[in-house]
Amino acid sequence: MIQFDAVHKLFPNGTTAVHDLSLALPEGGVTVLVGSSGCGKTTTLRMINRMVEPTSGTIRVGGKDVQEQDAAELRRSIGYVIQQSGLFPHRTVLDNIATVPLLLGWGRRKARARAAELLETVGLAPEAGRRYPHQLSGGQQQRVGVARALAADPPVLLMDEPFGAVDPVVRTQLQDELLRLQKELSKTIVFVTHDIDEAVRLGDRIAIFRTGGHLIQCAEPAELLARPADDFVADFLGAERGLKLLSLRTLADVPQGAVPEGGTWTLVLDEARKPLHWASKDAELPVRPLQDTDSLLSALNESVASPTGLIARVDAAGVLTGVSSRDDIHEHANRAHTEVVAA
Ligand SMILES: Nc1ncnc2c1ncn2[C@@H]1O[C@H](COP(=O)(O)OP(=O)(O)OP(=O)(O)O)[C@@H](O)[C@H]1O
Ligand SMILES: [Mg+2]
Repeated sequence: MIQFDAVHKLFPNGTTAVHDLSLALPEGGVTVLVGSSGCGKTTTLRMINRMVEPTSGTIRVGGKDVQEQDAAELRRSIGYVIQQSGLFPHRTVLDNIATVPLLLGWGRRKARARAAELLETVGLAPEAGRRYPHQLSGGQQQRVGVARALAADPPVLLMDEPFGAVDPVVRTQLQDELLRLQKELSKTIVFVTHDIDEAVRLGDRIAIFRTGGHLIQCAEPAELLARPADDFVADFLGAERGLKLLSLRTLADVPQGAVPEGGTWTLVLDEARKPLHWASKDAELPVRPLQDTDSLLSALNESVASPTGLIARVDAAGVLTGVSSRDDIHEHANRAHTEVVAA
């Protein structure tokens, strides 16, 4: 467990980065710190491993006051992952991952064996170990960053916008990987992000900060969505409260019917009855067919993009099963929303 008690950070230039913070982060859980730029997230994180010293207050990790521990030793016992991975450019991937074990005096052989094992854990091929960081994609570099932080098997992992610099598809993959790893490892993770969707996806608890280093609310995602503490939190979650719920619901329950005849647009299929595009007398527009497992949010999106307001529904093989209307989707969206407000 990580415990902040009345922690204050005033920088010499007069900026209060963190204001009277008292917060308990549960052991073995992911706590996500969110809030707009400059609200003190990074400062809060860096006070845990003493890269920043608080002006007053105490921070305990596993019951021990961090001020009473050797800073370098403390840092080695806490994994730290940052945006752009922070890898050493002139060391191979394997040596990057082995950094902390080597510092801990494990010996080269054992450290490398551990690094090789971690490459696999984070989903990289063994060959990647011999490369240099610049020879990897951004997403692969972030995986190496995570592997390096895990190398000495620290109980605590600090992650400062670790997936902030990769594209949305890779970001989702990395989030999936982290969730999978966390199921196995149950680390105490403090994760900083700007992205409330990422927070809801990854967090067991979410702490929302406001400029000036004020903690406004810390709660489980569902609690936060259902009962924001004040207007600031509600604004921060915004209209996305409903959309987030839709992203958790699938299309499965939405009724489907046959493609209506005689309209301006027809749905063109190939010989296997797989949708190709929407066609009118003089235009063609793309169609993105959806399966039962797709979310209500993608359905709503697709129905708005569709010239007919209809979405094409297919089975797992991509063969058309029917269409659903924007109204059908809306009706289910409304139902989902009502349930959240009543919760
Ligand atoms: N070394 C420093 N000296 C003076 N002020 C600082 C220092 N580090 C941070 N600050 C200020 O403290 C406040 C909090 O900064 P911090 O980096 O913790 O914010 P953040 O929430 O991580 O922001 P971002 O989302 O942009 O990363 C900001 O106003 C920042 O300018
Ligand atoms: Mg920051």
